[in-house]
Amino acid sequence: MSSINYSEKIPNNVNLVNDRTLQRALEHWQPHFLQWWQEMGPSDFQAADVYLRTAISVDAQGWAHYGVTKMPDYRWGIFLADAQPDRKIGFGDQMGRPAWQQVPGEYRSTLRRLIVTQGDTEPASVEQQRLLGHTCPSLYDLRNLFQINVEEGRHLWAMVYLLHAYFGRDGREEAEELLARHSGDADKPRILTTFNEPISDWLSLFCFTYFTDRDGKYQLKSLAESAFDPLSRTCRFMLTEEAHHMFVGETGLGRVVKRTLEVMKEIGTDDPARVRAAGAIDLPTLQKYLSFWCSSSLDLFGSEISSNSAASFTNGLKGRPDETQYEDHVLREKTMALVTLEGEQQVPMLNALNEVMRESYLKDCEIGLKRWNRQIERAGFPSRLALPSSRFRRTIGTWAGQPVDPQGNLVGKEAYEKSLPGWIPSEADRGFVHSLMQRVIESGRMAAWIAPPERGINNLPVEYEYVKLH
Ligand SMILES: [Fe+2]
Ligand SMILES: [Fe+2]
Repeated sequence: MSSINYSEKIPNNVNLVNDRTLQRALEHWQPHFLQWWQEMGPSDFQAADVYLRTAISVDAQGWAHYGVTKMPDYRWGIFLADAQPDRKIGFGDQMGRPAWQQVPGEYRSTLRRLIVTQGDTEPASVEQQRLLGHTCPSLYDLRNLFQINVEEGRHLWAMVYLLHAYFGRDGREEAEELLARHSGDADKPRILTTFNEPISDWLSLFCFTYFTDRDGKYQLKSLAESAFDPLSRTCRFMLTEEAHHMFVGETGLGRVVKRTLEVMKEIGTDDPARVRAAGAIDLPTLQKYLSFWCSSSLDLFGSEISSNSAASFTNGLKGRPDETQYEDHVLREKTMALVTLEGEQQVPMLNALNEVMRESYLKDCEIGLKRWNRQIERAGFPSRLALPSSRFRRTIGTWAGQPVDPQGNLVGKEAYEKSLPGWIPSEADRGFVHSLMQRVIESGRMAAWIAPPERGINNLPVEYEYVKLH
């Protein structure tokens, strides 16, 4: 078992002390990171005492160690899942050969791009969420936000470690750039569009953690299959933390639905105007938020037909999530039916892997929707929530820029433009949601638009003072 060395400046389980050059380079980056955290991390809460979990080892006993910490004192560091002895490549043309402990020269730039793109999303989300603390619906939620933020900071460390340790000077330059780009910045935006969208209310946060962190789960799972073993081990450990982010999204949205249904029953109607007047989020508005964040996140999987995805797979850089569940790991003979603008096409499976991943992602997204719809049905109301079609509002791939409705039908440009404000949040919808965002910081109390969680963190009561503000 690899416990984490906390006596060093940078906590780690990679024996950093034995590589002085690397240690020095990372110690040089560390103050830049801390400065970024102060400037771009959660605004105004750096002095608060927060009930956070920190990893003290990467095994089941040690990865979730709870205690009260101020966020700037959080021990960001480098934690890799334990090595699997004699690990072999599990897919692609080099299947069965030993996994790589170094980066093969011919894949250097592709691997660097994959790591930089993943790394860029981590600080981006912290930036997107930096003002949310001011409008928290409860201390419980505030703590969850900060837990996610510090962990995304650590995920940045994870990618920066790989860049520093395996990519020499280019890697060090990329690590600096990861702190220089900023979410929504006009000159130096983050790499992916979804990570430049503002998250200025908690409904957006819950949608983001439900849909976008779930994309993160799929990306990490596919990189955890990589033949480049240090990347695989890094991503395997990140996945344990990522599960909590999706938990926040799923339970957050579930609590919104629960509260809305309580209000609908109280006032005896599902009329959106009356639900709003009673201080809850009406279901049509919730649907628009779901459609916005789901469609935005679907773009993150890339084009339906992609030669990059084929190359990454055949070369062993990026597998499918849970690669072992499939029978064929080479895919040279297989095809997949894809519906494009020109109709149905048979595409080599290798070129359709983004779509394979998108489909399994959507199945995973359906789970929450089914649960919420059961709640609505049990409450005796007819409406249902739904995921948008994967063709809706796409900016990448064969459906990019096409006038498609949320059900997936082509509707013509004019009809599309007229209807779009009814499909995703309008300015007025956002204004209404913002009007609900009033800060609640008495222990155990919840804002009126959200139900309390079923239980607290780490067996503590919901009323526990999860964040002590000073
Ligand atoms: Fe992350
Ligand atoms: Fe995350």
